[in-house]
This record gives sequence, structure tokens and C-alpha cells, in this order.
Amino acid sequence: MVGTQWGDEGKGRVVDIVAKECAYVVRYQGGHNAGHTLVVDGEVFALQLIPSGILYDHVVPIIGNGVVIDPRVLLNEIDTLAAKDVDCQRLMLSPQAHLVLPYHQILDELAESRRGDNKIGTTKRGIGPAYADKASRIGIRVEDLLDPEHLRARLHSALAEKNVILRDVYGHEGLDPDQLADELIDEIAPRVAPYIGDTVGHLHEALHAGERVLFEGAQATFLDLDHGTYPFVTSSNPIAGYALVGSGIGPGAIDQVIGIAKAYLTRVGAGPFVTELHDEIGDHLVDVGHEYGTNTGRRRRTGWFDAVMARQAVRLNACTEIALTKLDVLDQLETIKVCVAYEVDGRRYEYLPHLRRLHDKATPVYAEFPGWCTDLSGATERHDLPREAIDYISFLERQMGVPIRFVCVGPGREQYLRFAA
Ligand code: GDP
Ligand code: IMO
Ligand code: MG
Repeated sequence: MVGTQWGDEGKGRVVDIVAKECAYVVRYQGGHNAGHTLVVDGEVFALQLIPSGILYDHVVPIIGNGVVIDPRVLLNEIDTLAAKDVDCQRLMLSPQAHLVLPYHQILDELAESRRGDNKIGTTKRGIGPAYADKASRIGIRVEDLLDPEHLRARLHSALAEKNVILRDVYGHEGLDPDQLADELIDEIAPRVAPYIGDTVGHLHEALHAGERVLFEGAQATFLDLDHGTYPFVTSSNPIAGYALVGSGIGPGAIDQVIGIAKAYLTRVGAGPFVTELHDEIGDHLVDVGHEYGTNTGRRRRTGWFDAVMARQAVRLNACTEIALTKLDVLDQLETIKVCVAYEVDGRRYEYLPHLRRLHDKATPVYAEFPGWCTDLSGATERHDLPREAIDYISFLERQMGVPIRFVCVGPGREQYLRFAA
């Protein structure tokens, strides 16, 4: 399951629908930059690291090797869930996942303020610096928590480098490796250790036994480090292909890819946004859709559905189907637009232009639809939808070339309907 836009499409709530029939739910990339919200019986669960399948007793939630884990955030999330009577004992962490540590978060924040007007608008959670360390081979992994002396040595060598950067580039005092090692060894490791397991082995046995395994993408296609709107992207690969790398399974194991798309578009952070609205309709989408980050509380930018991006996302992820979310947010609009193509220097593009500088110059070509001006929040079947809503969804289906399987009409667990057969 992957986001087809710039995140916050409603991945968590769609995972919650599909996980009902799955044995495992696996996070394969990203970290606590994600914020996945589920609403069950009126109770709100905002998850950052733990897979959204945690709310079902029959699901084994797995955090794969491709994820970066801030252990303090993880333990906090476990405690918050426990306070709501959700048991996390089944949770399993890959020993090969990397840790997000305090110096990553500090560096993320300092690097962002140093960029000034060229800010990426990161979540300042330390995600980028943690992935950079992974690639530089100075990262600390989950399994290092099991070996105190090794952990201390690794921290010493990582901080020997980081402290120079912190002091000389940013004028920060730096961190004491022994203090951090003591905290990790005394407080964090004993609590994290019971969750560390053979995630690769478990997944292969589950697949061999014919169990259904759901991979929960975080972030989204256009925040992808390679295929997104670089440099305004995250530091991992949310696209479906990375589910393999980030969990340790092979390409043949994937037989279904569900792309999640909001019925309009949002983005939090900087970067291009061809269909962005700077008017009262944009404000209306923010208000009605409560478009404030689950994670950082930032106001999200809003715009019309962009079928050019959606088509590209279907390609990049090999989506077999789509789940369309937040259709109800459009309920009161008299006219709804969809961007069907880009125009750049007099040329029409049906897919994302292959050069980013062309993307920056793109202007949207719109198709217009009459709104339904009806409250959809109680719809549970396709025939509950007014003709205008069916036309809108069917048009999006044709634009993307794959069936829209689910349509969500409210945040609640039951507020969705099956659209395509
Ligand atoms: P994710 O990051 O993709 O999991 O999405 P978020 O949880 O960050 O943001 C989606 C927000 O929209 C959450 O607050 C959800 O509760 C809410 N939401 C999800 N689906 C719907 C829907 O169909 N209608 C409405 N009105 N809200 C929804
Ligand atoms: P979910 O899983 C929306 C954005 C940030 C910023 C860029 C880089 O809830 O959809 P980072 O902290 O990752 O280095 O920030 O990516 N971003 C998200 N936007 N939803 C998310 O996650 C995001 N995770 C990162 O706003 O623009
Ligand atoms: Mg989110």
C-alpha cells in the first residue's frame, strides 16, 4: 500500500480496512516523520512508527530493516497504545533497522535553519541525517543495542565526526558519547530488546504458508528520494519496489499494489505544486479536510486532484488498484476540477515531465465537474452515491487506468464503500 501523492492520503486508515484480512503488516521505510491516523469507535490513534495493523489482535506488526527508528519515540508509542489497552507484545523489529539518535534530530534542525529560503520543510525528526549515516556506514543499528561495548564504540566513532560538524559548522556544543551510550544501554536497550526478532525469517515463513502480508508505505511517491520532486523529498524510497528491499523479500511475493489517493491534493513542506490553490477553495479544503499535519501540526498546502501525478504513480508503483480517500471533503463544492495534463512551453504532458525544470514551469490543464452538494459521510455502498460523485470517481478511474476499489467518505473505520467490483 503506497501513497500516490505527497503523503497524508489516508494510508493508515486504508491499511486498517485491509489489515482485517492480513496476518502481518510491515513498515518498510521512513520513520517517525510519518503520521498515520486511524479513528476506531470515535477514538483517534495517531501512529508514527508502529504499523497500523497493531489495532487488530490477529495481526503481527513488523518494522522492517528499511525503517529508521527513534527508540524513544517507539517506546513512547508503545506506552501510549498500552494506555489505550492496545497490546504491542506481538511487535517485531528488524535488527538491521537503523536508529535515529538525538544528534540526527539536532542536525536536521540545524541544517534546515541554515538553508534559509531554500528550506526543504522537513519534519525535523532527524530522518535525513539517519539515512545519510546508514549510507555512510556510520549508522547505529537496532542490533547494536544488544551489545553494550560495541554500541559505545560505535557511538564514539560516530560522534567523533558529528561533533566536529556540530561545533565547527553550526556552533553547537556537541554531544557526549558516553552519556548517550549510558542512556541507550541502561534505559532503552532493556525495553527494546524483547521486540527484536528475525523479521526476514518470519516473513518468508508466513509467505510460504500462504499468509497475507500487507506492506504499509509511509510518505508517498512524490516524496520518494529518486522519483519525487527532488530535493523536496524525504530520504527514503516510499514506492512499492522498496517494500522488497526494506523488508527482505523477493519481487515475486507482491501480487497486489494499492495506491492511496486523496480526492484532492495536499502537500506539507516546500516544493512544486502545479494544482495548488491560493484562494478560498484552498482554505475550504484545509478547514473541511482538517489539513494540518498529524505529526507536526503544520498547515498543509491544498490543490485540485492531479491526474498527471496519479498516472505517474500508477506506473512507478505498478498499482493494481486505487483507494480514494476524503471524497466527503468535496461535498459542498459547486464545481470540482481535475488536472488532466500539464502544459510546458506549448507542449502537453500526460505524465510527469522527465526533467524537474520542466515540472517547475508546468501549468495545469483542467477538466471541470459539477459538484454533488450532498453529505456523503453516511454512504456505505456505491448506489448511495449521487450521479455526480459516481461520474467524478469514474473519471478518475479512467484517468489512472486502474480500478478504484475503495472510496472513503469519512475518517471512521466504517466510513467507506467498495466502488469497483
Ligand atoms: P496518512 O499519513 O496517509 O496515513 O494520512 P494522515 O493520517 O496523516 O492524514 C489523513 C487524515 O484524514 C487523518 O486525519 C484521517 O483521520 C483523515 N481521513 C482519512 N480518510 C478520510 C476520509 O475519507 N474522509 C475524511 N473526512 N477524513 C479522512
Ligand atoms: P505520512 O506517512 C507528509 C515531507 C516533509 C518534507 C519532506 C522531507 O504521514 O504520509 P523529512 O522529515 O522526511 O526529511 O521531510 O517530506 N514528509 C511528509 N509529508 N506526510 C508524511 O508522512 C511525510 N513525511 C515526510 O513535510 O516536505
Ligand atoms: Mg500522515
